[in-house]
Parts: sequence; C-alpha cells; structure tokens
Amino acid sequence: MDSLVKILVTGGAGFIPSYLAEKLAENENNFVVIVDNLLTGSLDKIPASKHYNIKFIRTDVNDINELAGVFRSYSFDFVFHYAAVVGVKRTLENPVKVLNDINGIRNILELAKNTSVKRVYYSSSSEVYGEPVEYPQNEDTTPLNSRLPYAIVKNVGEAFLRSYKKEFGLDYTIFRFFNTFGPKQSKEFVVSRFIAKALKNEDLTVYGDGSQTRTFCYVSDNIDATTNAFYTNRFVNDVVNVGGEIELSVLELAKTIIKLSDSKSQIIHLPALEEGDMTRRKPDISKMMQLLNKPMIPIETGLKTVLANTSYIL
Ligand SMILES: NC(=O)c1ccc[n+]([C@@H]2O[C@H](COP(=O)([O-])OP(=O)(O)OC[C@H]3O[C@@H](n4cnc5c(N)ncnc54)[C@H](O)[C@@H]3O)[C@@H](O)[C@H]2O)c1
Repeated sequence: MDSLVKILVTGGAGFIPSYLAEKLAENENNFVVIVDNLLTGSLDKIPASKHYNIKFIRTDVNDINELAGVFRSYSFDFVFHYAAVVGVKRTLENPVKVLNDINGIRNILELAKNTSVKRVYYSSSSEVYGEPVEYPQNEDTTPLNSRLPYAIVKNVGEAFLRSYKKEFGLDYTIFRFFNTFGPKQSKEFVVSRFIAKALKNEDLTVYGDGSQTRTFCYVSDNIDATTNAFYTNRFVNDVVNVGGEIELSVLELAKTIIKLSDSKSQIIHLPALEEGDMTRRKPDISKMMQLLNKPMIPIETGLKTVLANTSYIL
C-alpha cells in the first residue's frame, strides 16, 4: 500500500465539507483530519463512525495556537479550507465575526507553508462576483464586485492564496461555490427551509416578488468535481466555478418543492431584502464540466433525494 495521504478538512462538521471528508475517506490511502468549532456544524454530520480513517478535533481555525497544535501533530499533505461563518442573515448580522475569518485564512496558509503542505484548496463563493455584471459569470473575465463582508473575506482569501503562491510557492486551487443543496444542509438555506416548511404545510416565505434567480447544484456534483480536481491535479493555481447550470427563480423553486412534496403550503411574499439578495447568479461551468465529465444531477432529482432524507432538517 502507498503511504498514507494526510488531508486536513476545515469545517468538516458542516454541510459540504462533511460530504467531502466522507468521499476522501472512502479511499483507504487517505487519512482525513476534520477540524471544526461547531459554530454551524454538528457532530452528527461527521462520518467518523463509518470510517476509521477520519479523526475529528474540535478547533477554531481562527485561533493560531489551537490550529498550530493540529498541524504539529500531523504532517498534512493537503488542506481543504472550507470553514467559514456562512448564511445570508448570520453574515449580515455579524460582520465583525465574518471579517475575523481572515485570521483563519492567514493561519492556514502560514502553517501550510511552514509544514510543507503540497496544496491548499479553498471554498470561495459566487458572492465574490457581487451584484451581477455579466452572465454567465466567468472565473477569468467577470469583474469581481464584492462589497459585503462575507464576499470581501472570500476575495481576500483568494488574494492570500495567490500571494502565498507568488512569495512562497504554495500551490492552491480556488473553488467558487454557487448555491449548493443536499440532505445535510442546515435549515437557514433556501432549499432546506422551503422543504422543512412544505413538509409541515407551513407558509413558504419569499423575499420580494421571488423573481431573483439562482442555479442549484446537488452536493454530490460539487464533491465529484472537487475531488476529481484533487485526484487528477487539474486547475492547480487556478479558479473553478462549482455550481448548477439551470437558472430557476426563487418563486419557481418554492412552487417545485410544494409540488414534489404534495404540500398544502402557501407562498407568502415579504419585503425585498435591503442587501445581500443578488438579482441573478449563473456560473460559467465549462471548467467544472471538464472535471465532472457526466451530466449534472437535475434539480428535481436532487430535491427528491432531500425529501427522502429529511433527518437533518426536520
Ligand atoms: N452551501 C453553499 O451553497 C455555499 C456557497 C458558496 C460558498 N460556500 C462555502 O462552502 C463552505 C462550506 O459551507 P457549508 O454550506 O457547508 O456551510 P456549513 O455551515 O454547513 O459549514 C461550515 C463549517 O465551518 C465551521 N466553522 C465556521 N467557523 C469556524 C472556525 N472559525 N473554526 C472551525 N470551524 C468553523 C462550522 O461550524 C461549519 O461546520 C464555506 O466556506 C462556505 O462559505 C457554500
């Protein structure tokens, strides 16, 4: 057997990173260490019980002393830095907490550089594009229009990665995630929130007229694309959008969920949010499709899977 590949996944008690950790642990040559401070993550999302090669360490990545101890105990080959304060409402209400995540990025890069990590993978966000300038949003040509702290932090994170490459030769891959959904997503995100309400026949609330569009990527497509990038060493020192391809308005999403769950819920319109609710968002996914190499999971198929696995949202 080849020697073990040691991988750090930050935020691994959360939605996307817990699926990532599980997928990586399916390969017995990998040893996966998850760090998480359980801000929005939870222990029941960590797939450790099924995999002997996953270890969880409760750690705040923004605290250099805590994190340095973890880096000292393992010599990581690769790092997936996915921990972050997330959620539109939480990030708008806690801007200083959001900005503190810059410390986490710096800590990860400093420790990665000093301990000979081979590459750092970073979960950036479609939010870096800000209020849309063009469609679809392309990694290389669309200007970044980030204004809100969450988006600014992701943008700063990307700049840190490029700078550590330039000054210290530390390789990176940046993934810009667009709306992703799946069974372990927490209830404050639109798909989980609508499904939880629909199953209880409660009203679904939509901000404004609901004409704002999003694409929705089922989580396994996200994980397949990112792990393929990892295993095939593609898009090194590059940026890849990771998101769905079909645009759907929030109103259409609500109607689809009501239909699929056979719910009696009504749709209620609330005043439009003052900030943070972009009118349109759609990724150019040509790079992602090179990694995925198969058709994307249709949104209705993904929604049906979530409806069949509601233990995390009900
Ligand atoms: N889900 C999406 O649609 C989406 C879209 C764009 C970007 N992202 C990015 O993907 C990543 C994962 O997001 P998610 O949707 O799975 O959210 P999540 O909240 O389920 O996961 C984030 C995890 O990070 C942990 N965490 C937060 N701050 C931490 C800290 N200081 N130290 C240690 N752990 C910390 C949380 O407890 C949580 O378990 C985030 O970086 C997020 O910004 C997600």
